[in-house]
Amino acid sequence: MLDDILNRTDIVELISSYIPMKRAGRNFKAVCPFHHEKTPSFMVSPDRQIYHCFGCNCGGNAFNFLMQYERLEFLEAVEILAKKAGVALPQARTESPRAEGLTTQLFKINEIAASFYQSNLNSAQGTFAKQYFLKRGIKEDTIKLFKLGFAAEQWDGLINYLRSKNISLSFMEKAGLILNREGGGYYDRFRNRVIFPIFDVKSRPLAFGARVLTPVPEMAKYVNSPETPIYTKGKHLYGLHLAKDAIREKDFIVIVEGYLDYIIPYQEGPKNIAASLGTALTIDQARLIKRYTHNVVMVYDSDDAGQTATLRSLDIFIEEEMQVRVVSLPKGYDPDSFVRKFGIDAFYGLINSSKSLFDYKLDMLKSRYNAREPQGCSSIANEMLATIAKVKNAILKGGYVKQLAQNLDVKEEALFAELKNIKDYSGSQSTVVPFAPQKKNLQINPTEKLLVKLMLEESSLIERLKEVLTPSDFQDARTTKIVSIMFDAVSQGRKVVPSHLINSCMAQEDLSQMICELSVMPQVADEDKERITDDCIKRLKEHGLKGRVEFLRREIKEAQNLKDEQKLQKLMQEFCNLTKRGPT
Ligand code: CTP
Ligand code: MN
Repeated sequence: MLDDILNRTDIVELISSYIPMKRAGRNFKAVCPFHHEKTPSFMVSPDRQIYHCFGCNCGGNAFNFLMQYERLEFLEAVEILAKKAGVALPQARTESPRAEGLTTQLFKINEIAASFYQSNLNSAQGTFAKQYFLKRGIKEDTIKLFKLGFAAEQWDGLINYLRSKNISLSFMEKAGLILNREGGGYYDRFRNRVIFPIFDVKSRPLAFGARVLTPVPEMAKYVNSPETPIYTKGKHLYGLHLAKDAIREKDFIVIVEGYLDYIIPYQEGPKNIAASLGTALTIDQARLIKRYTHNVVMVYDSDDAGQTATLRSLDIFIEEEMQVRVVSLPKGYDPDSFVRKFGIDAFYGLINSSKSLFDYKLDMLKSRYNAREPQGCSSIANEMLATIAKVKNAILKGGYVKQLAQNLDVKEEALFAELKNIKDYSGSQSTVVPFAPQKKNLQINPTEKLLVKLMLEESSLIERLKEVLTPSDFQDARTTKIVSIMFDAVSQGRKVVPSHLINSCMAQEDLSQMICELSVMPQVADEDKERITDDCIKRLKEHGLKGRVEFLRREIKEAQNLKDEQKLQKLMQEFCNLTKRGPT
């Protein structure tokens, strides 16, 4: 059944819906989403339906990719791909009670907490909070849509509620909902604040943001969930779960900063909008957006912090080869207050008159420096070039240089010369979080490795090798294991498919790592297969033989010392047989 799902899934299609990939011979390659790197070492084999990264050694089949990328449990990944592939799962599977992993449990706790906060909003204590939302222009339906809520002014409101649902304190803590009290015990993290649950693209509650109702200078305006096993800051976008279809349809996304900057425009008009919930956008967020569109319109505050954040985000989008435009709001406004004051049509007007990133940055620099003075002109040029250097497409890059030269009235050659000086731009604030610890290289004997690779490529070869080799001819415990799995499969008349094989070695990471690595390695040319196979068999036998002869020599010596005549006899016999026959 798992095999059925894999047969109807195309791993290339699946992975390219998450990250951009380029063809590289028979394979596809990409910048690995699971560790930080500049040059692509993440390979996907359409023939083997397997991915593997030579940088961090992660890898697997379509199930593994979904699990790793979306942080899902195995069965969740199976369910999703089964649905996509149109394979019906046996009913018992979904209904039978199953051990839930931490991830599932945390989502559940958040779900319960979110509904607790939601119901608070309609209690007597929550009247003030409800009024607060309404006063800020959020309608009743919108409050429901975003599951907005309220945490009352109480130290243990949530704790007591979750306890009544039999949830342990340790889970509440893991979910980031409660805090450890110094003298012992716990208290609610969110108190006397309105609550904004943050959802992932699948509408599962990941975390919470909480705003004070009446600002007090010494209190943070917003308190947010900490990072938890399911929530990493800068990896999600607020509201994307409700916006993704519209983003795909309109083929662009409007990005704003805050909760209200999202909710108010969304309520009034554009549905292709999401919020970054911090200052600068991260690479992870850019890549998340890229699943839906390559076109971005940024609408950030026009204060200094907002401008800096915008500039930093621009560079990230360029590195990701996305098109980005920028809207400048009138001073003192954010999208929320702008829409409430001037209406949604004015907001659409701003979006339509958004500036290209090039013009935006240039205008901003020109307001900071005097372009007519050589010093100012060179400052502007250098800052512009820092961005232009990140453009990957050479034609586009040339176009920008030309534009800049005209605008500043300097020679193109001078700009190109400066551009050459900007070689390393790795100083950018890209914040890719390594998802998984790097795995070690396996260090396997090359002959054994090559034979296993050949078998994975050509299942007919397995039968042939089974005639002449036994798994114990392989010295490495890992290759021995894989070979015996493959031999067994063939004996039982089953076909060996690498991506299926992984499912049966999931518990043995070394084995699945080896299968993945071998699957994406360049294939052996057909005309060489025969010769290379024979060669490997010979070397393997020789190696085995040499090892045995060495072993016998040592044993014989020892038997002589111990004067164990019987044993000596037996050993000598074997030794003579082996050495007489010579290497085959
Ligand atoms: N933010 C945060 N923690 C803070 C301040 C801000 O997490 N202490 C995040 C919030 O997601 C907030 C966004 O940054 O929505 C933008 O902050 P800011 O512009 O200060 O707030 P607004 O969104 O305008 O909030 P409001 O309109 O409610 O004052
Ligand atoms: Mn605001």
